[in-house]
Amino acid sequence: MASLLVTGGAGFIGANFVHHWVRAHPGDRVVVLDALTYAGNLASLEPVKAHPGFAFVHGDIRTPGLAERLMREHEVTLLVHFAAESHVDRSIVGPDVFIETNVAGTHELLKAAQKVWLEEGSGAEVRFHHVSTDEVYGSLGPGDPPFTETTPYAPNSPYAASKAASDHLVRAYHHTYGLPVTTSNCSNNYGPFQFPEKLIPLMLVNALDGKPLPVYGDGLNIRDWLYVEDHCRAVERVILEGRVGETYNIGGRNQSTNLEIVRLVCLQVDEAFRADPDLSARFPHCPAAAERGTSNLITFVRDRPGHDRRYAIDAAKIERELGFYPVETFETALRKTVGWYLANEPWWRAVMDGSYRDWVRHQYGATAS
Ligand code: NAD
Ligand code: DAU
Repeated sequence: MASLLVTGGAGFIGANFVHHWVRAHPGDRVVVLDALTYAGNLASLEPVKAHPGFAFVHGDIRTPGLAERLMREHEVTLLVHFAAESHVDRSIVGPDVFIETNVAGTHELLKAAQKVWLEEGSGAEVRFHHVSTDEVYGSLGPGDPPFTETTPYAPNSPYAASKAASDHLVRAYHHTYGLPVTTSNCSNNYGPFQFPEKLIPLMLVNALDGKPLPVYGDGLNIRDWLYVEDHCRAVERVILEGRVGETYNIGGRNQSTNLEIVRLVCLQVDEAFRADPDLSARFPHCPAAAERGTSNLITFVRDRPGHDRRYAIDAAKIERELGFYPVETFETALRKTVGWYLANEPWWRAVMDGSYRDWVRHQYGATAS
């Protein structure tokens, strides 16, 4: 039986990962450590709350000694590190917390793992898995080959720079102290439980409320989209079969411009309204309720400063070494995603208006220390 400490498990990818792990490994213990920032929501962990091996700790990865205590208390053998400030636009407006959480917070976890596993270690097989991003590699030109694991780091936003720094720390703890680590660098995710500030869920909820769909610049920036459950399966594969000290790129082999993505979201919203007449009553401000195209809401706005033009992942290493391939296509998984947001309006309304966080503070009081 493995005992997992999952940081950031109340966030988008972390929560999907916890759901996946509990389904696939029902005998394991899964302890989530999450500070419940604006992006973390206990409601996203509702489906696993009753699972006997599951526990939630409201706490901050930056708190000295906290991870160490949890690792001893729960005899953790696998630390899966998702916790981060993750939104590029926020990092442009306020970079400080990105450095504090993504760099200093990751370092606290590495120190804890070194102390508990290497200095006091029981000899059990252990692993520190660090979840990172393709943004560390910088921006590609139109004809450039996709990012491989040996592409030089060239982060362009404060977010990307903070993730790059954390990747380097993870590497250094392996190289210097022999900490058994793996790192994965993934492309853009979408799917259930994603906070509606990221492109796909933002466009969806704005469309449903009849608000403008803000496309930055010319809308021709390219991202490589992967359904979140495929990302979770890939992380599982790296944890279980990846070589210690290695990094693995994870991607969907699915490059699209932002404009293509937004247009597809609009088409799928239009289709959903045609198929379900109740939606017009629930979302009367959506153009589809009046049989007008949702794409009428698309509005070009000022570009993001330093906006990376193109990301694309070469996933050959994880395919070759670990046999990992995504199971979803963009078309099918986007339909699932649209369906999830239509079916879970209370979730996104609550996480967006912040009342939910007040309830959490009331329930849980101060952060664990
Ligand atoms: P998210 O913003 O949805 O969730 C982050 C979670 O971390 C939240 O639950 C938040 O409360 C928690 N958190 C933040 N600061 C914390 C702290 N100091 N202590 C404890 N918990 C804290 O992020 P996400 O999109 O789920 O991303 C998860 C990880 O995956 C991040 O490391 C991100 O860099 C990486 N990643 C994300 C994507 C993507 O497309 N979303 C792609 C590749 C990699
Ligand atoms: O590539 C992986 C990264 O993907 C992750 O590491 C980040 O955590 C995650 O946030 C994501 O970063 P992006 O900046 O690519 O994602 P975002 O959803 O913010 O934007 C996707 C693209 O859409 C980007 O080119 C900017 C554009 N965009 C975004 C928003 C929010 C718009 O045109 N309009 C918008 O309102």
